[in-house]
Formats: sequence, C-alpha cells, structure tokens
Amino acid sequence: MDTEQKTRTWRMSGRTVLITGGGKGIGRAISLELAREGADIAVLAARDLVQAEAVAAEARTLGVRAMALVADIADDAAISAAVAKVAETFGQLDVLVNNAGASGRAPLLELTAEDWDRVFAVNARGAFLAGRAAARQMVAQGGGGAIVNIAGASAHRCYPGAGGYGPSKAAVVSLTQQMAVEWARHGIRVNGVSPGPIRESGTGWEEREPALAAEVRKIPLQRAGEPWEVARAVVYLASADGGYVNGQMLILDGGSVTTWYISG
Ligand SMILES: NC(=O)c1ccc[n+]([C@@H]2O[C@H](COP(=O)([O-])OP(=O)(O)OC[C@H]3O[C@@H](n4cnc5c(N)ncnc54)[C@H](OP(=O)(O)O)[C@@H]3O)[C@@H](O)[C@H]2O)c1
Repeated sequence: MDTEQKTRTWRMSGRTVLITGGGKGIGRAISLELAREGADIAVLAARDLVQAEAVAAEARTLGVRAMALVADIADDAAISAAVAKVAETFGQLDVLVNNAGASGRAPLLELTAEDWDRVFAVNARGAFLAGRAAARQMVAQGGGGAIVNIAGASAHRCYPGAGGYGPSKAAVVSLTQQMAVEWARHGIRVNGVSPGPIRESGTGWEEREPALAAEVRKIPLQRAGEPWEVARAVVYLASADGGYVNGQMLILDGGSVTTWYISG
C-alpha cells in the first residue's frame, strides 16, 4: 500500500503546518501526507526553493493552501522571520515538523570540530531555534499546537563512524522532552519520530547503496522503511489522534533498537 491509495480522512483540516526540509525525501512525504489530511502547508528549504515550490504546487492540487520558503534553521533571525511569514500568510501556525537534518560520517578520531559543529548546527541548534520560534507564535496566538521533531534511530543506538550525527539526534530526543515539559502549560504537545533507514521501494536504491542494503537485511523486519510510513506517524502525533501523547519518541526502525541479535 502506498500513500496514494489511502482514503482522505481530513484529520488535519483547518490546521496550518510548517515542515522544515519539506521539499525532498522524508520531508516531501510528510508535507504531502499532511496536505492529503487537509492541512495548509508551508514547505521550508535551506536553499532549494524550486523543489519546495514543486511540493507546494502538488499540495495545492489537493485543495489546500500551500507556500514555499527558504531559510537556514540554524540562523535565529532567518527562521524567526520565516515563522512570522507563515503566520502572516495563513493567519496562524498550528504545527511545526522539525524535519530538516544534516549528516556527516567519520570515525570520532578523525572527526573535525567543524564537521561536529555543522551537524549540531542543523540538527540540534536548528531544531531548537525553529521550535522556539514556532512555540512563541503559538503562545502569541493563544496557545495550543503540536511540534514533531524528526530524530533518528541513531539517537537510540550507535554504529561506528557516524560522526556527530547520533549525538546530535540524541540531543533532539532530550530537546523533545524539554520542550514537552515546558510548553505543555501552553497546550503545545511536543513529540518525535526516530526513523531507521528510510528509502523509497522501487527506486533501485539497493543497487546504488549495497552496503546499506546488506545492513537492512539484518533488521528484524528485513526491509527499509518508506517515507510515507514516517509521514503517517507524524500525522498521528500532530493530529488529535495523538492528543494525549506528549514528550514521546516513536521509533520506526523495523525493530532494530529492540535487539542486538543480527538475523540472516
Ligand atoms: N533518510 C533516512 O534514512 C533517515 C533516517 C533517520 C533519520 N532521518 C532524518 O529525517 C530527516 C529527513 O531526512 P532525509 O534523508 O529525507 O533528508 P534530505 O533528503 O537530506 O533533505 C534534507 C532537507 O533538510 C533541509 N535542510 C538541511 N539543512 C537545513 C538548514 N540549515 N535549514 C533549513 N533546511 C535545511 C534541506 O534543504 P535543501 O533542499 O534546500 O537542501 C532538505 O530539504 C532528517 O532530519 C534526517 O536526519 C533520515
């Protein structure tokens, strides 16, 4: 089953959502799934406005309002201005999906301070700044809202050579809990999703990434996750369906973090 075969249930109707990194990959799937559920969406990219606009255009064919914008989430002034622009355009901001992320592989003995800082700037600082800007807007409009932070299975278990990626995503897990505890009194729920390897089936990624394909075969479910599966989890946490869920991480990794046993 893919996302196109699903009946629309309008769970996000009347809600406005900002998706960082929403123009490609997992973020694109999240953007379009939210639009399918009736949300007005703002698709934010770091640089690639063309791709973000293409996703917004696709969302508009689903009958919702959609806009595209560019900002560096690690730049306080830029992300604050972007959040203000979304609120001004749509009249409010109800949900933030902190999806934008960066990675960089190297053994710790060889990892440079610059690479550590670059990954933390996007994954940890960026998630904080975007979350704070969104929460300030939500509080200013009277409270209520939801934030979904995309971390990663690497936040919950390590593999050699992942550089600062896992530590920065572990910071996102703690940040999720911190935000949830502090902002609950404003009616803002904050949760997260930690995906394992996510690839679109039928795209030939196994041939392009044979090492990852071999790893994926050892996952208890013996497959990669699909972008739409992450998107559905985000909708659950962002919508009233997840109304009593707060400060939680939903780990979508086919069962990997549950075991050290390697199958196959
Ligand atoms: N793919 C996986 O297997 C996997 C697994 C676990 C977790 N995740 C997490 O899931 C999220 C999405 O992953 P993905 O693989 O779909 O990502 P991706 O294809 O690499 O896309 C990353 C997106 O983030 C945006 N971005 C990067 N730095 C930014 C910044 N400083 N400010 C604003 N936007 C920025 C990029 O904008 P531009 O388009 O302008 O460059 C792009 O749209 C990330 O947080 C990633 O760590 C992914």
